Amino acid sequence: MNNFIGIFDSGIGGLSVLYEAMQLLPHEQFIYYADEKHVPYGEKTREEIIGYVDEIIQFMIDHDCKAIVIACNTATSADVSILRKEYPDVPVVGIEPALKPAVQFMEHPRVLVMATPMTIREEKFQRLMARYEKDAEIYPLACPGIVEFVERGELNSAGLKAFLYRLLKPYCEGTVDAIVLGCTHYPFVKDAIAEVMGNTVEFFDGGAGVARETRRRLMEKELLYTGDRKGRVIFENSAATLEKLRLCEILLN
Ligand code: DGL
Repeated sequence: MNNFIGIFDSGIGGLSVLYEAMQLLPHEQFIYYADEKHVPYGEKTREEIIGYVDEIIQFMIDHDCKAIVIACNTATSADVSILRKEYPDVPVVGIEPALKPAVQFMEHPRVLVMATPMTIREEKFQRLMARYEKDAEIYPLACPGIVEFVERGELNSAGLKAFLYRLLKPYCEGTVDAIVLGCTHYPFVKDAIAEVMGNTVEFFDGGAGVARETRRRLMEKELLYTGDRKGRVIFENSAATLEKLRLCEILLN
């Protein structure tokens, strides 16, 4: 099977998922689509996001994608069940905050879940939280603003750390055991978050799990590429900026 695996996000955050997929499926071809025209998704309405996602999925279908990965927690919480109904032949894999491994890594942990306002607000996350609330103390935290730092390529600046310190102050110095990075942009600022926390916390994100699920779904439908060509990535961007393309390459490396 020669077709592409399409991966998309509102911006460059989904590269953290693309990276995992490339490790697991090194011979596959990927199209990475960043919807830079509409980033950040996390502060939009559900209806707006469904509209953007529909267009991107159509783009992926038109470009012969054999599977589509929604490398965006926000878009997944808004849309994935609708998409599965519309495209029964193309596996669509979404991502959700990696709460399960975070809750299970120790006895009754205190878990901070960082995600966009929309992810935290949506029913999908509320249901996920309800499933684990007996096994852990879970603190959901909407984090508007972090995505913009990542989009500017500011991954460890003093400005970012001051911003994170204001946001995370109530959870610093030993009040949480684990942090779920529930937005695909956040793994890029993990070091800055760790520094601001001031103590050791375990980090969890859903990137590797999504890569494994994508491989499983492709195998199930016998859609995996079985030759030994070198994989590659084509970058697409709704705002078509060269500067972003360069940032994509830097982050992926
Ligand atoms: N990276 C996305 C996520 O995982 C969306 C960030 C945004 O555009 O707000 O939720």
